[in-house]
Amino acid sequence: MDLLKSKATRRHNTINHQCFVKCVAAVLAGICIGYWILTRFEITLWKPVYPLNILLVGDWGRDGSHNQSLVATQMGKVGEKLAIDFVISTGDNFYDTGLSGIGDPQFATSFTNIYTAPSLQKRWYAVLGNHDYMGNVLAQLDAALVLRDHRWFCRRQYQLKRYLCQPPLSGLCNYAVDFFFIDTTPFINEYSLPGIHEMFDWRGLAPRDIQLQHQMKALDQALEQSTATWKIVVGHHTIRSFGHHGDSKDLISKVLPILEAHGVNAYINGHDHCLQHIKSNDSKVHFLTSGGGSKAWQGIQKAKKSELHFAYDGQGFLAMSLNERSLNFDFYDAFGNNLHSIHIGK
Ligand SMILES: *[C@@H]1O[C@H](CO)[C@@H](O)[C@H](O)[C@H]1NC(C)=O
Ligand SMILES: *[C@@H]1O[C@H](CO)[C@@H](O)[C@H](O)[C@H]1NC(C)=O
Repeated sequence: MDLLKSKATRRHNTINHQCFVKCVAAVLAGICIGYWILTRFEITLWKPVYPLNILLVGDWGRDGSHNQSLVATQMGKVGEKLAIDFVISTGDNFYDTGLSGIGDPQFATSFTNIYTAPSLQKRWYAVLGNHDYMGNVLAQLDAALVLRDHRWFCRRQYQLKRYLCQPPLSGLCNYAVDFFFIDTTPFINEYSLPGIHEMFDWRGLAPRDIQLQHQMKALDQALEQSTATWKIVVGHHTIRSFGHHGDSKDLISKVLPILEAHGVNAYINGHDHCLQHIKSNDSKVHFLTSGGGSKAWQGIQKAKKSELHFAYDGQGFLAMSLNERSLNFDFYDAFGNNLHSIHIGK
């Protein structure tokens, strides 16, 4: 018995000794070949501080062109650093005219074959943009797409709750974030005008007035019932923007009052092919544009400095990290530079 024990102890010591030698060698190798040991260390530190980390990108599907691939590569790197939980797409998922059907090869050439980094192999929660409505709109909503790529999740309007406690406590957690995904294309009056109306696939929707009433009521009720620490609304079209398209009057009149009434923390959109952070003194809502997934460089309009906190008209994406006390956003360009950070505290 004693012999076995001492043998086991000796073996243990030898293993520790071998491990020590290996560790020293690994550290020296790390110093010689780069900083990979430090990078790996960071992953274990970030997660407990921010139990939820996600990336948001919009206006992307162009078979990798217009720097879509460059943005995808940087998303992969930031996604790994943050150990992201999922990705949100703010719409205009496939250019120029959405998908033609569930077998459209562009689903692979603009999505599956572009966002290949290991960190991006998570669920992608998407909304529809106006360009998605110009193809077969039902194709992107079809659950059969999951068979082509398990990451894909796109619906017209839905909500998603995430608790903000670490795994053993997640069931007992009082802190959560609620995401509300809305379908903004039917709200835009211009698209219903004769000559333009015909370019969109409106199948599956009630007549416009009824559809909008339903959607506003559903959003109002969902926000009313939410007890989450953080409330985030995601849609394709801008509410406030100093980009190419500017503000969306129809959303300012119909959707913004609902967001204001329920203390929404941020509205995140695409549509303008740029990155923006707008916050005015007369609204509690932070307006964030993440529409830099591919084609960009359309310019930024003049804005009051007190409202427009940040704007970049090139390619890039948005990262979001949160816990029960703070909601953080970081804008990145196509080279992985962190351009602008936002910290919202409770
Ligand atoms: C790609 O990104 C680089 C660097 O931001 C930029 O100079 C170039 O114009 C971009 N190309 C396109 C097609 O947008
Ligand atoms: C908004 O508030 C900030 C900080 O309180 C202030 O510096 C700025 O002048 C205000 N802007 C306007 C337009 O009132």
